[in-house]
Amino acid sequence: MAISNQVIFFDTTLRDGEQSPGCTMNFGEKLRIAHQLELLGVDVIEAGFPASSQGDFDSVQAIARQAGDKIQICGLARCTERDIRRCWDAVKVAKNPRIHTFLSTSELHMKYKLRKDPETVLKMISEYVSLASSLTPNVEFSCEDASRSDRDFLCRACENAIQAGATTINLPDTVGYAQPAEYIELLDYVIKNTPSAGKAIFSVHCHDDLGLGVANTLAAFRVGVRQAEVTLCGIGERAGNASLEEVAMALRVRKDYYGLESGIQTEKLYPSCRLLSMIIGQPIPNNKAIIGANAFAHESGIHQDGMLKNRQTYEIMTPQTVGRAESNLVIGKHSGRNAVKSKYESLGYKLSEEQIATVFEAVKDLADRKKTIFDEDLLALIQEKLYRAPDSFRLRHVSVSSSDAGGVPPTAAVLMDVDGIEKSGAGFGVGPVDAVFNVIADMVGREPELKQYAVNAITGGTDAQGEVTVRLADKGFSAVGRGAHPDIIVASAKAYVNALNHLVQAEKEGRRVHAQLDDGEEAGA
Ligand code: KIV
Ligand code: ZN
Repeated sequence: MAISNQVIFFDTTLRDGEQSPGCTMNFGEKLRIAHQLELLGVDVIEAGFPASSQGDFDSVQAIARQAGDKIQICGLARCTERDIRRCWDAVKVAKNPRIHTFLSTSELHMKYKLRKDPETVLKMISEYVSLASSLTPNVEFSCEDASRSDRDFLCRACENAIQAGATTINLPDTVGYAQPAEYIELLDYVIKNTPSAGKAIFSVHCHDDLGLGVANTLAAFRVGVRQAEVTLCGIGERAGNASLEEVAMALRVRKDYYGLESGIQTEKLYPSCRLLSMIIGQPIPNNKAIIGANAFAHESGIHQDGMLKNRQTYEIMTPQTVGRAESNLVIGKHSGRNAVKSKYESLGYKLSEEQIATVFEAVKDLADRKKTIFDEDLLALIQEKLYRAPDSFRLRHVSVSSSDAGGVPPTAAVLMDVDGIEKSGAGFGVGPVDAVFNVIADMVGREPELKQYAVNAITGGTDAQGEVTVRLADKGFSAVGRGAHPDIIVASAKAYVNALNHLVQAEKEGRRVHAQLDDGEEAGA
């Protein structure tokens, strides 16, 4: 097979990303991310690990069902008959389904994790890849812990997988151990010494334990690898995976060096990452490449002077290329419905008339309270208004009083709907936020543990909206909630109620913190 100059973007935000701590998503949120990934132009979505739980099976199947005809939908499966058949049952409704099966090939993993000898592992690869190929011609095989595997054994493993029908061979740096030059030497060796290598596309999947996930991924293109397994914002096991936005922008900005193409619509990178960040409730660090608040900020006088003379002095890409356009369209009190609609389109969201109607009211309401509405405010708003789970609890009003006088504890009064019934309550706390949370918990009859509380100013300025993230845990279930409001106490109350709603949903869906398999084995790969 002649090596093409097209890089296949395989996104595993919903599998490797979602299985990492703090990145859990509910059914609706996964569908929303999958839709956004499709708009972003990824080639393959790894939608989940169907054998790990009924919840994962259902979401992979729903994503497969909603996917269009240009994208491939993939599920992960261990080398067992049940996993492979379960995976196929979930993805087969997609127009372009893929089964991704994997088995460890390093001595360490074979001996201690699999407790199998290398010859048995080779036989299993043939057997289970054949089973997968009997179901679909689109099969990927991963040699787990490839970067720490013996190179000649890897060639035999890859040959068996290709002979059994695998069309994509992934050689992951599972533990983020490889160094770029060493890694590509291994990849080059395997590609050159696997007799049937020409019949498959080679792929990499690089973890970021030493901060080299993106560097290893990019280096791999130099030796003919043409699939990159990546995630939005680099989320994933431990330190995460190579980040999609960084790999995509390196290919675009340094096209002179790589000479490669991709289908990624880079203008949708920022809205996509921002959506993920809002859904999982993890703020994007300010200094994060491509999408961080400071990625295009020029602070020092020398840099500013250079920028004014010629932007290229200190800017290797424009904010517009990654979807951070400072559009001329300013949204405020007097903006009409069409302006709001086009503004969202410029941010990468094509909203239906019904969605516009919902959002438009909320934009007007915000404009009454806040002078300048930034893109970030608009993005926070659609997350809150359009992509939230159906609510069991709804906050109506909250009021707090706090004082530094000894003996007068902060007090909160709350009015909210609990399962459709309007209720009011009041109480105390060690601080105003604590008082609000105590009252709400009391009103809904729960005592969840507060695992995380974070406040982030969405934009600059004293009238900036505060975005609060709350993580709650209760009886083995965990959920994240977010709320945005110029008053951070109100934002906190909204986030707490939102987290409670997500908790109820997680319980309904039976989505525990870590999905357990029937045999008690942990589901994470
Ligand atoms: O890190 C890894 O090796 C994986 C495989 C399942 C591809 O996630
Ligand atoms: Zn991984």
